[in-house]
Amino acid sequence: MCGIVGYIGKKQAAPILLDGLSKLEYRGYDSAGMAVYDGKMIHVQKSAGRLKTLDEQTHGGDTMPGMSGVGHTRWATHGVPSDINAHPHYNTDETIAVVHNGIIENYLKLKKKLAAKGCKFRSDTDTEVVAMLLDYYYHGDPMEAIVKVMHRVEGSYALGIIFADHPEVLYAVRKDSPLIVGKGKDGCYIASDVPAILRYTRKVYYLQNEEIAVLSDEAVHFYNIDSEEIEKEQKTIEWDINAAEKGGYEYFMLKEMNEQPKTVTDTLNPRLKNGDIVIEELGMSDEEIRSLRKIHIVACGSAYHTGITGKYVLEGLSRIQVETDLASEFRYRDPIIEKGTLVIIISQSGETADSLAALREAKKRGALTLGIVNVVGSSIAREADRVMYTWAGPEIAVATTKAYTAQLIALYLLAVKFAKIRGLLDERAFASMIKDLKAIPAQIQMLLANKENIQRFANRYLAAKDVFFIGRGIDYAISLEGSLKLKEISYIHSEAYAAGELKHGTISLIEEGTLVTAVSTQEDLYKKTLSNIVEVRTRGAFVMAVTNEDNTEIEKAADYVIYLPKTNRFFTNSLAIIPLQLFSYYVSVGKGLDVDKPRNLAKSVTVE
Ligand code: M6R
Repeated sequence: MCGIVGYIGKKQAAPILLDGLSKLEYRGYDSAGMAVYDGKMIHVQKSAGRLKTLDEQTHGGDTMPGMSGVGHTRWATHGVPSDINAHPHYNTDETIAVVHNGIIENYLKLKKKLAAKGCKFRSDTDTEVVAMLLDYYYHGDPMEAIVKVMHRVEGSYALGIIFADHPEVLYAVRKDSPLIVGKGKDGCYIASDVPAILRYTRKVYYLQNEEIAVLSDEAVHFYNIDSEEIEKEQKTIEWDINAAEKGGYEYFMLKEMNEQPKTVTDTLNPRLKNGDIVIEELGMSDEEIRSLRKIHIVACGSAYHTGITGKYVLEGLSRIQVETDLASEFRYRDPIIEKGTLVIIISQSGETADSLAALREAKKRGALTLGIVNVVGSSIAREADRVMYTWAGPEIAVATTKAYTAQLIALYLLAVKFAKIRGLLDERAFASMIKDLKAIPAQIQMLLANKENIQRFANRYLAAKDVFFIGRGIDYAISLEGSLKLKEISYIHSEAYAAGELKHGTISLIEEGTLVTAVSTQEDLYKKTLSNIVEVRTRGAFVMAVTNEDNTEIEKAADYVIYLPKTNRFFTNSLAIIPLQLFSYYVSVGKGLDVDKPRNLAKSVTVE
C-alpha cells in the first residue's frame, strides 16, 4: 500500500525522500510524488508510474532544493493512477501539502460540504479532502487545525503534512495505518516502514493511534488528540542494514528464499532449550494450556495458508479443536468465542487491516490473543495480548517466502509444546520431533540447491494458461500456498484443490498438457493422491509431483518428480514449499516480469 517518507533537517530533503521511497517500493504503488519547502513556498512534483520517473524529472531531487519535505508512493484506491491523483495534495493556495496512507471513509460527505463552501477540488482522491479540510480549520495554528481534522475524518490514515507558514516543522499523524518517526544526527524523519530510514537512523518511535508528531531538524515532540504533550519511548532498530538490500541477488525474492535456512533457525533455536520447547512470550501456564478448548487461527493470504497447515498440525498433535478463518470473514461473521479460546493472528507485516480488525474483534469478545508477527513493534504485535515473533528479518518481495516458512515453525513449536503438556507425546516422540525440527534448515538448504533443475522445468511452462495444485490434508494446505505463489508473480491462473474434490467439478478443466502439481507427503494418503494423479494424467494432464524420497513408484504415474528428504509427517510443508517457491520464481523470471513488485499488489495491505 502507499508509502510515506518525510524529512526535516540540515540536508537537502528531496534526495533523502527519493531514497526512502525507493526502499518502500516493495509495498506496491502506481504513482509517486514529493513536496519540498524551498524557503519561500512548497513545490510539488508528482507523476503516475514508477519512482524512476520522479527521480528523472527532478534530477535525483536536485531540482527541488529545500530542507524539509514529504514524499509518497501511491497505491490507488480513490481515483485512477494518474499525475493528478498522485500525492502530495495541496490546499487551494498551495500552502499546505499532505501525503496520506489509508482511506478517509467519509470523504464524499466532507467533499460535498467543502465544495459548497467554494473549494475547487483537482483530484478524485480522499486525500485532497484532508488538505482542504486542514485549510478550512487553519487560522495560524497547525496543531489546532490537525486536531480538528482528526475529529472530523473517519477511516484510517497516516499523514505527513507541511505548512508553508511553519517551515521549521513537519507534522505526522496516524490512525490505523503504520507510521514511524526517526531521529538522526542530521534531522528527523517519518516513514511507513523502517527500511526507508534505516540508512539515516536506528532511533525510532512508533506512533500510536491518534497521536501527533511534530518534527523539527533537531527534536521530535509528541501529542495526543487533546493536544497534550506525551512521552514516547525511543526504540533502537537492530536490523542489519544489508537485510533490506538485495546483496547481489537479482531479486529480493531469490535472496529471501535463500535466507530460509537462517530465518527458520533464528525462529526455532531461541525456543529450543535443554531438549525442551520454551515459549516464554506465550505467558501461559501448563494448566492454562491443558484447559484450552479451542483455537482460532485468523489471517490473510499466505499467512492464512500457514493457518490451514496450523489447523492440521495443532489438531493432529494437541487434539485441540482449531478453526482457521480469513480475517476479512472472521471480523464480520459474529464468531463464537467461549471461555478457554485462544485466537492466533498471523501476520508478517503486523499491519494488515483485516487481521488487525479481527484481533480487536477477538479481544472484544474476551479471547486470549496471540500474534505471530514478523515486524517488531507493528500494530498487531502491540495490540495482541501476547506476541511470538518470527525472526525472518525484513521481507521486501511482495510474495512472501521466508516469513511464511518462519510462521510454520512458530506453529509447529506451539503444536508440539501443547501436545507434550497435554500428555499426548511421550519423551521419545517429543525428542524425535525436536530432532526433526532442528534438521529442517539443512533440508531446506538441500532443496534450494536443486534450483537449476526447477528453473529448466519452469521454463517449459511460461506460456501456461492454467495450473492446478492438488493435495490432501496438510498437502492441500501447501497446494494453496503453491498456487498463490504462482499466480501472484507469474500472472498465470492457478487453483488449488483438495485432491479428493477434483472429481466434483474441476476435473472438467483438465485438457491435453494442463500442468497439475500434486503434493503427496502424507503416507496414509499417498495411494489416494496417486489415484488422483492417474485420473488427471489419463485426461491429458502433465503432472509434477512433490513427494517423499521413498515414494519412487510415483514416477510411473507422474511426469516430473521432486523428492523431499525425510521429516516428521507434520513438518512436511516446510520442505514441500521450497520447490514450489522456486518454480513460481523461475516462471516469473522467465516471463520477464517484475518478480518483487507484481502488478496491482501491495506488500502490506493496510486498507480493508
Ligand atoms: O503481512 P501479512 O502477513 O498480514 O500479509 C498477508 C497477505 O497480504 C500476504 O501473505 C500476501 O498474501 C502475500 N502477497 C503472499 O505472498
